[in-house]
Amino acid sequence: MRSWQGDGIWFGADYNPEQWPESTWVEDVELMRRAGVDLVSVGIFSWALLEPAPGRFEFGWLDRSLDLLHAGGIGVDLATATASPPPWLAHRHPETLPRRADGAILWPGGRQAYCPSSPVFRERSLALVEAVATRYADHPAVVMWHVSNELGCHNVHCYCDVSAEAFRGWLRDRYGDLDALNDAWGTAFWSQRYHDWAEVVPPRTAPTFANPTQQLDFLRFSSDEQRAQLRAERAVLERLTRQPITTNFMIGTGIKYLDYHSWAADVDVVANDHYLTAADPQPQVNLALAADHTRGVAGGAPWLLMEHSTSAVNWQPRNVAKTPGQLRRNSLAHVARGADGVLFFQWRASRAGAEKFHSALVPHAGPETKVFREVCRLGADLKAIAEVRGSRVDADVAILFDYEAWWGAELDSHPSVDVTYTDRLAALHGALWRAGVTADVVHPSTDLSAYKLVLAPTLYLVRDADAAALRAYVEAGGTALVTYFSGIVDEHDHVRLGGYPGAFRELLGIRTEEFFPLRAGERVRLDDGATADVWTEWLHPEGAEVLAAYADGPLPGVPALTRHRVGAGAAWYAGTRLDDAATDRLVARLLAESGARPPVAAPTGVEVVRRRRDDRSWLFVVNHTDGEVRLPVTGTELLGGASCDGGLVVPPGEVAVVREEVRCSPSNGRAPSWT
Ligand code: GLA
Repeated sequence: MRSWQGDGIWFGADYNPEQWPESTWVEDVELMRRAGVDLVSVGIFSWALLEPAPGRFEFGWLDRSLDLLHAGGIGVDLATATASPPPWLAHRHPETLPRRADGAILWPGGRQAYCPSSPVFRERSLALVEAVATRYADHPAVVMWHVSNELGCHNVHCYCDVSAEAFRGWLRDRYGDLDALNDAWGTAFWSQRYHDWAEVVPPRTAPTFANPTQQLDFLRFSSDEQRAQLRAERAVLERLTRQPITTNFMIGTGIKYLDYHSWAADVDVVANDHYLTAADPQPQVNLALAADHTRGVAGGAPWLLMEHSTSAVNWQPRNVAKTPGQLRRNSLAHVARGADGVLFFQWRASRAGAEKFHSALVPHAGPETKVFREVCRLGADLKAIAEVRGSRVDADVAILFDYEAWWGAELDSHPSVDVTYTDRLAALHGALWRAGVTADVVHPSTDLSAYKLVLAPTLYLVRDADAAALRAYVEAGGTALVTYFSGIVDEHDHVRLGGYPGAFRELLGIRTEEFFPLRAGERVRLDDGATADVWTEWLHPEGAEVLAAYADGPLPGVPALTRHRVGAGAAWYAGTRLDDAATDRLVARLLAESGARPPVAAPTGVEVVRRRRDDRSWLFVVNHTDGEVRLPVTGTELLGGASCDGGLVVPPGEVAVVREEVRCSPSNGRAPSWT
């Protein structure tokens, strides 16, 4: 792994100088210096300018831009520029265009119009990487390499004949022979048995439900094809350059089809893009989830926020501007949760193109604006907290997340369309957020031993080894919660027999004989006063104690919430979709039982997260409420907006970062013990 960290917290943006006359570039660098920007991503969408015709490269403008940035002391995260092919590629090689499941071609004119399995695209894109890397490997401005951009954002699934051939190759590698594929895909069903590899195609639009395992394997293949582009570009960069290599992931914004837990091994730093959902009244909660998941993908190590927005985006139905202070709270909340860099899309708002109404650091109105003033303030903030760089986030709780479980859980022809994978993830994480407790969102294969509490929401597909690891964790004294529609199938999407939730039946001490999903809008009551919707199931305790049962609905008297002592620990099960208040109560009980707790107790809406390095620790306090908050914290406040004299006072909407005075040392590796 190549080291990527600088002296502090990186600060910057995507920078697209090619959209502006060179006279503007001088002002850009001047304003970047004023704002404290020290890292910009350059060249992301520059292929058509850098290589105007096949094999003819024009680097003059990029040379001048990089020289200017370097003279201004600004580092460059240089793109390989392969994110969007130039129009000449599709014109000369129409077979590189991607096709949808129904056969429709996705034409050039937007971006990312290429088939991810196209050998022509691969060859041309790597030739570009080679040319860019050769030219700039030793340019003093370059501090990092940015492979492509949001790989698979628009073209993750291609169903063309080239992709079909690549899919067959991938399946041969996975299964070896057709008998194994037929077994895995369960092709005895509906006359689907394959006798010749040539008969196997991607799950194109079919008269009815396509084979679920065929769909699942196509999703795995598609993620792997995108990853293969990352690895191919990385191989070129590794050969020619020495700076760290990354690409921007899209964790936590609903992007489903890229298995980032497996991709993390291919980057020197996990970098993420996160945008708020304007329609969400509490977007800071989803932001926290995205950051906690990014940290989980990074294995707990610091990561880089490659993109977020200073204010509104342009691609949602109603693009809401950020309120004063929100930019700062958002950025510092990412840092609180492990980011060692805060970058935005983009430096200067475009005049033309589909993103001209997307916010930027320098808006259309120029630098005399609320946005640019807040940008400058943030730049100063990040300098003031440079010392947190390299520290790691304390978390007592792990939430298990598996992209394959997501894909499997949301395949068609299931008991209820209302069961979605991220629903319980967001509900449980939200309850923890409200309780002020930090969670790592990690892959089920992660070592769980240091966590006090482990939550497994909707882990529909689970491997034997991962189910066994959760059991071992509980036996050793851990507390776990599993929610409905977990443990149902193996990695081939074959049902685990003998009663649900197959893989977790013994751990949970229950056996479900039949699902009873609810009608749209139907609610049931539990005998502890909770309400629930979407899902119920006919569950029999087999060793578990019953904590709550249904008071009405299709299954009156049947257990809905159970707890099973296993070894030195306990495994809880929620067999229904509890309302938010009941979820909060359930999480409070789990926290009490497990001993997981917030770094400092604070009112709901005040985010408190601790980062730690060696024997030093920093407390981040983000006050999302309208009221002043007082916390029993002493130390040195680094941002200068809060007082920390005999307790910390954080005004409404403000952020504090406190270098804690009482030195704490890790006792069990996670929980602080005060000395
Ligand atoms: C993504 C892309 C950027 C830009 C932004 C707009 O993150 O990587 O190029 O399109 O979205 O929000």
